[in-house]
Amino acid sequence: MTETQYQYALWFIVGFGAITFPILFFITAPYGRHFRKGWGPTIPAKLAWVLMEAPSPICFALVFFQHERSGDLVPLIFFGLWQLHYVYRSFIFPFRMRGSGKRKPVFTVAMAFLFNIANGAINGYGVTVLGAHLTMSWLSDPRFIAGIAVFFIGWFINHQSDHILRNLRAPGESGYKIPRGGMYRFISSPNYFGEIVEWIGYALASWVVPGAAFAFFTFANLAPRAVSHHKWYQEKFEDYPRERRAIVPYVW
Ligand SMILES: NC(=O)c1ccc[n+]([C@@H]2O[C@H](COP(=O)([O-])OP(=O)(O)OC[C@H]3O[C@@H](n4cnc5c(N)ncnc54)[C@H](OP(=O)(O)O)[C@@H]3O)[C@@H](O)[C@H]2O)c1
Repeated sequence: MTETQYQYALWFIVGFGAITFPILFFITAPYGRHFRKGWGPTIPAKLAWVLMEAPSPICFALVFFQHERSGDLVPLIFFGLWQLHYVYRSFIFPFRMRGSGKRKPVFTVAMAFLFNIANGAINGYGVTVLGAHLTMSWLSDPRFIAGIAVFFIGWFINHQSDHILRNLRAPGESGYKIPRGGMYRFISSPNYFGEIVEWIGYALASWVVPGAAFAFFTFANLAPRAVSHHKWYQEKFEDYPRERRAIVPYVW
């Protein structure tokens, strides 16, 4: 990846986040419970997840392994964190999701596909080309230690919450129930909260601009969707817990 390609891809991620954040409060992305007709052709949801997420671990790896520092321990730790998240999200999560006959508009899949090419590539670039500080001494830097801890707290919350959701449905079922337990005690979308925390941790631990850009995008994309989920739950279930917030415990 050249410096110019990096700059274009970075501003694509940041611009995309800045534009989608306000828009998503008015137009909810049309997939899952918010799926509706009028968004063009659709494809099966499981296939969609693989197609749109797989470019992220692949492009990260392609850019990462072009660089001479790809054999160094600290950059490799960030490679490992990225793959830990994205190999699961691309190739395991879609096949564990329950709900039959779900589809996604090709339009949303195409947007996510492009996003993940750019995001995977700039983050592979981030921890190699931009990561001159990611040497062995970085392992004892407070930003690294705190960031790794935050990353794994977010990762745990995200996985625990997706596990709770998955178990709400028996195989073949596709309706919705009120999720309970874990951080669902406090908020309607702890899977999104966990994902946001995870990437804030990654940004802190890596201390490079692409990590921060992705944390910003994740918040911009998922916070408005959590608000839409929250309203949807309140309208659908009369007995929906009143104390529950949308995305930030006790606050929002
Ligand atoms: N980094 C990012 O920008 C980004 C963007 C999007 C997603 N993600 C991550 O990808 C994962 C999935 O995202 P998502 O938007 O699909 O999450 P979601 O709307 O919470 O749905 C997750 C899964 O649980 C099912 N589900 C949700 N609520 C349910 C309920 N009340 N009862 C029964 N089943 C329920 C959904 O079924 P249906 O599909 O049938 O609704 C889907 O299979 C999350 O961990 C999220 O953090 C990350």
